[in-house]
Amino acid sequence: MNTDAVSADYVDFLVIGSGIAGLTFALQTAQRHSTLILTKKDRAESNTNYAQGGVAAVLSDDDSFTLHIEDTLRAGAGLCHEDAVDVLVHEGKERVEDLIRLGAQFSTETDPDGRTHLSLGREGGHSRNRIVHAVDRTGWECERTLLAATRDLENLSILEHFFVIDLAMCEADGTPRCTGAYALDTATGEIRLFRAGAVLLATGGCGQVYLHTTNPAIATGDGVAMAWNAGAAIANMEFIQFHPTALYHPEGHSFLISEAVRGEGGILRASDGSTFMENYHPMGALAPRDIVARAIHAERLKRGDPCVYLDVTHLDREFLKNRFPTIFERCLSLGIDISREPIPVVPAAHYACGGVQTDLQGRTCIPGLYAAGEVTCTGVHGANRLASNSLLEAMVFGYRAAKDALANLSAANELRHDVAAPSDALLFGGEPAPRSEIRRLQTALKACMNDNAGIVRNDRDLTKAEEIVEEIQRQIDALLRRSVPAADLIELRNMALVSRLIIRSARLRKESRGLHYSTDYPERDDVHWKRDTVLSR
Ligand code: FAD
Ligand code: SIN
Repeated sequence: MNTDAVSADYVDFLVIGSGIAGLTFALQTAQRHSTLILTKKDRAESNTNYAQGGVAAVLSDDDSFTLHIEDTLRAGAGLCHEDAVDVLVHEGKERVEDLIRLGAQFSTETDPDGRTHLSLGREGGHSRNRIVHAVDRTGWECERTLLAATRDLENLSILEHFFVIDLAMCEADGTPRCTGAYALDTATGEIRLFRAGAVLLATGGCGQVYLHTTNPAIATGDGVAMAWNAGAAIANMEFIQFHPTALYHPEGHSFLISEAVRGEGGILRASDGSTFMENYHPMGALAPRDIVARAIHAERLKRGDPCVYLDVTHLDREFLKNRFPTIFERCLSLGIDISREPIPVVPAAHYACGGVQTDLQGRTCIPGLYAAGEVTCTGVHGANRLASNSLLEAMVFGYRAAKDALANLSAANELRHDVAAPSDALLFGGEPAPRSEIRRLQTALKACMNDNAGIVRNDRDLTKAEEIVEEIQRQIDALLRRSVPAADLIELRNMALVSRLIIRSARLRKESRGLHYSTDYPERDDVHWKRDTVLSR
């Protein structure tokens, strides 16, 4: 790895984020061109690192591209872009094979003829077993493999603990163009401008805007906020996916219990031991996620119970320990032996199906700015993402974005002398930001989103939420103007902005579809609403 690129004020490619999307892109561009990754924590800290279930790909003889496409479209409830799904499914296999070539150790099994092949799991909404996994820590294995592959690349540098605040923009031929980014060095408090031929946003999701989320602390929607400020189109933010089964435990911090547990036969039960999913969908506990999460929500309300239970006590203890080592150990550390007692679970915010709108090459509507991974809306997920399609999407479109950016590099480099205009987002004050005030505003925001823009919505609650978030935004802005730049304060500003975009998109959609369910408009309306919700400044 070359550190010279870091001291230079200009690199060919600037990548914001070191999850699976950013690393996939950088591994292509850094083969020949200077590439710098800025990441706000340690390099492995990402949603990617916590992914459990796996990567969906067509790899077995009884599967087909057509079936994976059909499953994706069915889950997406009429809003998937078929061209994007086609690309995802057809190119996904190659990207998984790339990971294996780079050394990813996915789980295998041996058939009765003694042949060893990938072990393929099942998750909700899939009609075939097609989930490539590394026991229950698939994301960790992907991240480990990709980071290991970056080590020998001369042209690649990674700066950790550099928090990107805003995109740097200039005017090129009368059109705004992205030319880099402003980042806070969280060790020194210095703000630096990094300029580049092209920029990739790969900042992941925004689960932290909700009180209960499976996402790690980094998922604060920074990329959507930056892209919005720069004038990019943001699509489908109302489609926030709630994972049906996060651990319900005071010390569990919404730890995920993978859908693969249901794929291996886990049964959802109410507090009296009865099953209920058969009343909601023919696929039962393996129905698409929006349906299972809503069913659990309804059962909790109906019975006045705080949670439901995921029962695997009928499965062999050794099998559970080997297939789900992370889940087994984590539950045991909290006093739950999953081979002997059912696991208390509740839905929690998990994934943003919407984001920065891109085309099939990962291009946003701003020249010079690409985006890939959970920060985007590529059109693949429509109104509800099919399980294990997101690691796949990040790789397929991260790779495509790199190919497009490489093909256009010489034109981009001709603009390298253009000067970035100063960003409004960099106006700070001189006092230390009071942590207690940041925490208070953060809790108020998350509680408001949980209570009013969750699994089941209505116009009255959404209107109330908009007013509350506007007031919180005013208080954050006042705090920002007084305070020295601090990552948690800027994250809070981003979370409030992203919350506004979720609420606004949800208010605009006057129907129920996929992950957006409104009691005011309980039916799906294909006449008026079979379209994306696109917002821009
Ligand atoms: P991330 O992996 O989240 O990476 C984002 C990067 O951007 C991080 O490095 C972060 O630090 C950095 N960053 C963010 N903001 C800034 C900033 N302002 N400045 C600098 N850096 C910044 N999907 C599947 O397909 N299969 C699964 O089995 C699966 N399981 C999951 C389990 C859990 C618990 C969770 C939370 C998610 C799961 N998902 C799964 C979803 C999937 O993990 C994510 O959608 C995917 O990893 C996103 O990858 P990404 O590269 O877009 O973003
Ligand atoms: C899980 O393991 O249940 C998560 C899978 C996903 O989010 O795609």
